[in-house]
Amino acid sequence: MKPIIAPSVLSADFANLQRDIEMMNSSEADWFHVDVMDGVFVPNISFGFPVMEAIKKYAVKPLDVHLMIVNPDQYIERFAQAGATGITVHYEACVHLHRTVQSIHQSGCKAGVAINPHTPVELLKDILSDLDLVLVMSVNPGFGGQKFIPNTLSKVKELRAMAARLNPDLIIEVDGGVGIQNIESLIQAGANAFVAGNAVFAAESPSKMISDLKNISVG
Ligand code: DX5
Ligand code: ZN
Repeated sequence: MKPIIAPSVLSADFANLQRDIEMMNSSEADWFHVDVMDGVFVPNISFGFPVMEAIKKYAVKPLDVHLMIVNPDQYIERFAQAGATGITVHYEACVHLHRTVQSIHQSGCKAGVAINPHTPVELLKDILSDLDLVLVMSVNPGFGGQKFIPNTLSKVKELRAMAARLNPDLIIEVDGGVGIQNIESLIQAGANAFVAGNAVFAAESPSKMISDLKNISVG
């Protein structure tokens, strides 16, 4: 099975958003990764509903929405209405995570939970069977273009072993510093979806980089 590739719109040229979305539409990308940051949960502010709606207007692929915000519950319905296919909330931002996951499903979206680099995967044991996806952060969230944290590999392995028992269809997505240099080892560790911001948009040919990531040969 080829990996799912989700280029991050955060690294696109916002003055040429339509152009970059059309590049992704005609590329081998599977999903659009949409990073929403509130300046509270993370030390950066990205964009909200107007930009999300502009993305939705042109994107012909699923929108994989990553909410780096506090109190995500109050916005789930609006993100679903704005066109999200999947909504991922942070473990660290949700006091009643099970309730949040239920409301994501009620909104008609796939439900994901993201964990920061310091959050152990075993904390997900009692929610794992309710999830469609776990997003393993391989950088501290807030910015594109950061360096991959190597400990992510053992977290992915541990999570895949846990999922084999509790939720074999779980999608394990890795986000932050992913590129051609580490995607193979992440696939071997058990991940099957990858966010790529800088690796794609700083490449000479973004659509060729998407194809290279998609068609990586795993030895
Ligand atoms: C980081 C975001 C990422 C980011 C990835 O907080 O969640 O999705 O855009 O960008 P790169 O691939 O450049 O690390
Ligand atoms: Zn993200």
